[in-house]
Amino acid sequence: MTDWPPTDIEWMWSDEANAVACGDCLSVMPQLPESSVDLILTDPPYYKVKGEAWDRQWATPEKFLAWVGQLCAQWYRLLKPNGSLYVFASPKMAARVECVVGSGSISSSG
Ligand SMILES: C[S@@+](CC[C@H](N)C(=O)[O-])C[C@H]1O[C@@H](n2cnc3c(N)ncnc32)[C@H](O)[C@@H]1O
Repeated sequence: MTDWPPTDIEWMWSDEANAVACGDCLSVMPQLPESSVDLILTDPPYYKVKGEAWDRQWATPEKFLAWVGQLCAQWYRLLKPNGSLYVFASPKMAARVECVVGSGSISSSG
């Protein structure tokens, strides 16, 4: 693999095939090259399921879904044309998250 890992990201750890970055995903993902990812498997916040602050950052479901839409834009940009996307969501929000994911340029149902 050439140009791996991308050198403009501060990696916590990397080897010839893997790299770990710690940061806001909306800051890290834009630094990765487009159409460079085979698989995205993501477990983002669920929206007010957990008591932790990271799950309570949004005042309304709509604001949470707008944030998911921002993630989606990066997922679509990063995935290779035949890439796969798996997004975890809470039972309460899953249908709405799927609508956001499905409104993009890739299938949300595999
Ligand atoms: C549902 S939990 C995932 C838990 C994980 N699967 C595990 O087993 O530890 C969501 C995670 O997203 C992280 N998170 C929240 N906002 C983030 C952001 N903007 N960028 C990156 N990670 C974020 C939270 O800190 C939390 O650890």
